[in-house]
This record gives sequence, C-alpha cells and structure tokens, in this order.
Amino acid sequence: MRIYVPADAAARALGADEVAAAVRAEAQRRGIDITLIRNGTRGMIWLEPLVEVETEAGRTAFGPVGADDVASLFDAGLADHPLALGPVEAIPFFARQTRLTFARCGLIDPLSLTEYQAHGGLSGLRRALAMTPEDIVTEVTESGLRGRGGAGFPTGIKWQTVLNAKAAQKYIVCNADEGDSGTFADRMIIEGDPFTLIEGMVIAGLGVGATRGYVYLRSEYPDAIRVMDAAIAIARDAGLLGPSVLGSDRAFDLELRVGAGAYVCGEETSLLNSLEGKRGEVRAKPPLPALKGLFGLPTVVNNVISLATVPVIFQRGAAFYRDFGLGRSRGTIPIQIAGNVKHGGLFETAFGMSLGELVNDIGGGTASGRPVKAVQVGGPLGAYMPPASFATPFGYEEFDGQGGLIGHAGIVVFDDSADMLRLARFAMEFCAVESCGKCTPCRIGSVRGIETIDRIGRGDADAIELLTDLCATMKDGSLCALGGFTPYPVMSALQHFPDDFAATTKEAVP
Ligand SMILES: Cc1cc2nc3c(=O)[nH]c(=O)nc-3n(C[C@H](O)[C@H](O)[C@H](O)COP(=O)(O)O)c2cc1C
Ligand code: SF4
Repeated sequence: MRIYVPADAAARALGADEVAAAVRAEAQRRGIDITLIRNGTRGMIWLEPLVEVETEAGRTAFGPVGADDVASLFDAGLADHPLALGPVEAIPFFARQTRLTFARCGLIDPLSLTEYQAHGGLSGLRRALAMTPEDIVTEVTESGLRGRGGAGFPTGIKWQTVLNAKAAQKYIVCNADEGDSGTFADRMIIEGDPFTLIEGMVIAGLGVGATRGYVYLRSEYPDAIRVMDAAIAIARDAGLLGPSVLGSDRAFDLELRVGAGAYVCGEETSLLNSLEGKRGEVRAKPPLPALKGLFGLPTVVNNVISLATVPVIFQRGAAFYRDFGLGRSRGTIPIQIAGNVKHGGLFETAFGMSLGELVNDIGGGTASGRPVKAVQVGGPLGAYMPPASFATPFGYEEFDGQGGLIGHAGIVVFDDSADMLRLARFAMEFCAVESCGKCTPCRIGSVRGIETIDRIGRGDADAIELLTDLCATMKDGSLCALGGFTPYPVMSALQHFPDDFAATTKEAVP
C-alpha cells in the first residue's frame, strides 16, 4: 500500500514529519506492508498535513492529519474516517485548477527521475534536442510566455536577445530569490518537482547557446536548497546535466548558489552582483543582462516559474499553451493565496479569473470571518485593491489598468480590522530597510516617507500632499522598482481608504 505524506516546508511546519513517523510506526505495529512516499504538496495549505492513500479508485485524501489521528486512521482501514476528503483531485479547490506548471507537484516523489519521466518529464527536452536554437526560441516566443518573476517581460524576446549576442560563454541564471510577501510558488515547485526547473534550464541553454547555469536560491529556504542540491546531483548522474545532455552532443551544467537574504538581491542586476561575490547593489540598465550579465557576458535571467513552465510548452506545443489566458496574458499562472484567508494555497489557473472570484470563491473569504477590506497583489510593492476592484480579471494589462500589478502573483488578504495607514507606513519602512542605497529617492525618500505618514497619523492633514509629492518623486526618480514601486501600496492605500488617513489621534507606530 502506498501512502503519501508531503515533505514540503509548509506541510513540515504543520507537523508532516511527525505524521510520517507515526504512519511508519503504526503500520509496523500492525504488520501492514506500506510504502511511504514523501511527496511535494498539492498546495491546499489549510488541509496540510494532507495524507494520501493509493486505492484502486485512485488517491484518496485525509487532512489535516495530526500524529494523534494516525492510529484511528488505521483503525478505519485508511478509508472511512472523519478526516476523509475523498479523491484528492475532486476537492473543489484542486478540481477547479488547470495544472500545467504544477502538474506533477504533490503527485510524485520529487527526487524520483523515473516517476518524473513516467509523468511526462523530459519529453519536452527530448523534443528540444532535435530542434535548432532558433526554433527553440521561436517556440517560447509563440507560447506567449511572459516572465513570472514580476515584470511580465516576454521570455521569447529575452532569449532571442541572448541568442543573437555573440560570446564564447553565455549563462542561464534562475532567480529563486522569491522575496515577495505571500509568495511560495518557487519554493513549492523546487521542493515538489525540481526536475522541471532543471529541464527548463537545459532547454533555455540549448535555445540561447549557454552551457552553464546557476540557480540563485534564498538562504531562508533550507528545504528547497536540500532538494535542489540533491536533484542536480541526480540529474548529473543520469546524464541530464553534463558534457552530453541525454547522450547528445550538447553540454549544459548547473550550480546552486545560496543568497545572503536581501530583498533587493531578487532584482536581476543586484542578483548578478551577488552571484559574482559582490555587494547586492543594483546596476544601472542598459546594458541589459541579456547582453552584459553574469561576469559581463550574455545572460538569461528568468524566474523559477518561467523556467519550470518551459518543459510543458515543449511537451504540449506552443499553441496548446497559448490557448489558455486572456489578452496578452497567455497560459496559466500559479496564484498564491495567503494572508487572512480561509483556503490559502497555490491555485494554478488560466489568466482571466476575476480577483473577487479568487478571494471570495476560491479562497473562501477571510479566515476571521470578517468582511474583506483589501487585498495586496504583487508583493510588498503591489497595490492594495479594495473590493470595488474585484471585477478585475487576472491579467498583466488588466491589473495595470487598475493601478495595480500582478508581480509574482501573490494575493494577501486583509479583513476590515486592517489599518491602511499602518500598512502604508510598513511599505515605506520595508523600502527603507531593504534599499540597496544606490539612489537618493529610494534611500532617503523612504525614510522621509515614514516620517510623513507619521505626521498624517498625528492629524497633520497637510502632510498628505507632501506624501503624494514624495511618492511621485520616488516613482519617477528611482533606479529600480524597489524605490519606484513603493508608491503603489502607499498611494493605493491613501486613494482607496482615505478614512484611515483622516484620523487625528492615531499612534502611527507599527
Ligand atoms: C526589488 C526587486 C526584487 C525582485 N525580486 C525578484 C525575485 O525574488 N524573483 C524573481 O524572479 N524576480 C524578482 N524581481 C524581478 C527580476 O528583476 C527580474 O525581472 C526577473 O527575475 C526576470 O525573470 P522573468 O522574466 O522570468 O520574470 C525583482 C525585482 C525587483 C525590482
Ligand atoms: S531604487 Fe532603491 S534598491 Fe533600487 S537602486 Fe535605488 S536605492 Fe537601490
């Protein structure tokens, strides 16, 4: 009998290791022969630890399971039990998704290359190996894939620039710094299906003519670091990486590097400095990293999800992928639903679902049961969107039109007890703490921003105009999006929730 208990960091934080140990002990005590598989997560975090049992009718789920529940689960013959959820793929949160990038996450043992291949893995790479670099780049361009790290830049155009650049050495850099609030998709795919990222990076290398790659992973993700490290070693042993990729005459190898833990190190040029062993400070663009990137050589810098989506594009074809979505937002987007929400987790769906449907229907509204006041989409630099904007469909241009951004597609939900002035202050404080210090609007402006918001909190209504002015300066004058986008949360809070800025006796401290 096969039993699955996730080894994903979120599941482990909720007791999955204890559950796995209890399952093992209980099976042994009863003399039941089981195979225990530590899979990734299915992404339904409120049900973690989610235990799955393989039956003739497919995999059936129980959750959230505590170590104390395990004996009664066995008593019930791992079937009829109060924690039974039925077939895992029929759980509404799961059933409503279109899983392309995350198709295997939670399904397989993350470090089994055999299972990876049994579920479609490596077929994209095999196809790419028979294609010319130009055709590979065309395929990605035609898929409509845009960078999932934040800016939504077309991946095909970036790859084309690197392909066209002449250099003896080119690089593929995977940005796994994942610093946005409420985001965990990068971590989840690395912990749950690391070979898809490796496969995507190899295809990128074949496409642009790069033979070396680096995964830049944040130090705060020890589980992801361990899994990625092991996956790279397995891939190398199996000939997926190395001088002759899958026995071909093409070379590609990968190294894992761990970041020191600064938000700005997720910004691509700062990340490259960090990879080179320098201080994580933003470089002025141009030159673009595509032309002068790592060690001054042409470099593709792509987010984890962008690269992990490449294999399915090659497996199913560009047209298949492009068919999902709306407008210029093609394919699917793994949305991370977090904050004060009932059903938090990872929800992969075609672009186009409305924000309100995601928050209220999929997420089930707030965990506190109080009305939703605002949701922040796109990380700490994303706008606060009020329920009045909930009709906005999830798409790059659609969010832009509402003064917002999708970023890495993290949604953080707040109920009506949220104080938007404090949240605006937090955005400025975040910028002040995380600023790389290279330009004045960000370095100094954010500190003045905190002071100005405190003045408003103390009842100085004139300071509102000053804050508006300061935000305009930061937006226009900052070198990168850290300083340039901090006005989004601040100004959206001010615009949509003016009452929170009108109070006169507020203690404006965190
Ligand atoms: C302050 C700041 C932090 C960023 N953090 C990340 C990050 O953690 N992960 C990421 O993929 N992109 C991050 N980005 C975006 C990257 O600079 C870059 O656009 C991205 O890695 C490109 O990959 P993509 O085209 O696949 O999205 C950040 C940008 C800024 C300005
Ligand atoms: S905006 Fe901030 S983080 Fe970006 S370059 Fe300027 S000081 Fe550095």
